Amino acid sequence: MANVTVIGAQWGDEGKGKIVDWLASRADAVVRFQGGHNAGHTLVVGEQVYKLSLLPSGIVTGTLSIIGNGVVLDPWALKAEIEKLTTQGVVINAENFAIADNCPLILPLHRDLDGLREQAAGAGKIGTTGRGIGPAYEDKVGRRAIRVCDLAHLDALDVQLDRLCAHHDALRAGFGQPPVDRAALVAELKDIAPYVLQFAQPVWKRLNKVRKAGARILFEGAQGVLLDVDHGTYPFVTSSNTVSGTAASGSGLGPNSTGFVLGIVKAYTTRVGSGPFPTELEDATGQRLGERGHEFGTVTGRKRRCGWFDAVLVRQSCAISGVTGIALTKLDVLDGFEKVKICTGYRLRGKVLDYFPSHAADQAEVEPIYEEMDGWTGTTAGARSWADLPAQAIKYIQRVQELIETPVALVSTSPEREDTILVRDPFVD
Ligand code: IMP
Repeated sequence: MANVTVIGAQWGDEGKGKIVDWLASRADAVVRFQGGHNAGHTLVVGEQVYKLSLLPSGIVTGTLSIIGNGVVLDPWALKAEIEKLTTQGVVINAENFAIADNCPLILPLHRDLDGLREQAAGAGKIGTTGRGIGPAYEDKVGRRAIRVCDLAHLDALDVQLDRLCAHHDALRAGFGQPPVDRAALVAELKDIAPYVLQFAQPVWKRLNKVRKAGARILFEGAQGVLLDVDHGTYPFVTSSNTVSGTAASGSGLGPNSTGFVLGIVKAYTTRVGSGPFPTELEDATGQRLGERGHEFGTVTGRKRRCGWFDAVLVRQSCAISGVTGIALTKLDVLDGFEKVKICTGYRLRGKVLDYFPSHAADQAEVEPIYEEMDGWTGTTAGARSWADLPAQAIKYIQRVQELIETPVALVSTSPEREDTILVRDPFVD
């Protein structure tokens, strides 16, 4: 059986939700492999609206849902999310939900530090979601994290807590904050431990068993490649690797198990938070894209910055993540534009570039080179086959495909599941 890895190929918010839901309904297991509750995803099933941040998308339909070791887990946010879903009738238990026991925890001290740093940075801030994601990943690679498995051994945690608190106390002192209240932290951890531990297990083992049994596994990426800590617009990135390769390392399966890589690509570009954005439109056109696309963040409610499609960035993302095919989303937002533009290259201090440079100053300075195309007067909203699309919209899709050097597997034409043009089913590779 084929497996599928879904990743965002821009700065997140590409419309992964609808595609992931459709794939999750056909998967036997859904795995989150990076990020944390900085992700946001609204699921509409019949009359019910479900809000997911940390839990994998399969959870609502009872599909085996797994949080892999590559995720950073806020146990209190987890409990709140599960409790909310439970009141909505979703059944979540140790049969259908598992958390990797080697998953690092996000603690209140991480959230504190995230906020303090952003506040101190002023205009230079990253614009994080304020969930403590970055500081938690720092402690993971700094080898001082408290992990899920530690919750079963809280009385033997002194050395680890010494290391963790010494580090944070020094940072907090720099911000004029009191040291970590260690006793309170231990008490909070003791309180939440049984709740988390009921789901904890060596997830790599369960996943390998599921894989051997021929199950279909969906690896659900969060954020987007341009927010990847290595390949993104550093330092304006999240603190995890958001590329497809993380599906393996962040879950405990080999790279030969992660299957078809489906890159989700919005027909234009958006970004939340600070950082370079070459095709950003700070004019009426940008405003129109934002309004038509309802571009407000799901987690923080922040207004998203909007701009034309940047083929250079998406080509780069597809190459870096080995994207097999893309799902092009929100094409209907471009309906009615007289002209549409696609960025095909950059100009930087007199030179023409066919890639996005690594240095932050260069990233901020590149000027987009545009190709202009006629827009379309008809609507693409709700189209379910090529025949339903205006000819000019088909030309736009074909040009996107050509420029990003990656084929289109799906085109999504509205938030409704059925409003999709399926070119290639990722599960039937
Ligand atoms: P952090 O992940 O909270 O540290 O935020 C770092 C950057 O990633 C900020 O620019 C956030 O706006 C962005 N970010 C984090 N999660 C998401 C997401 O799910 N969608 C879009 N942007 C995100």
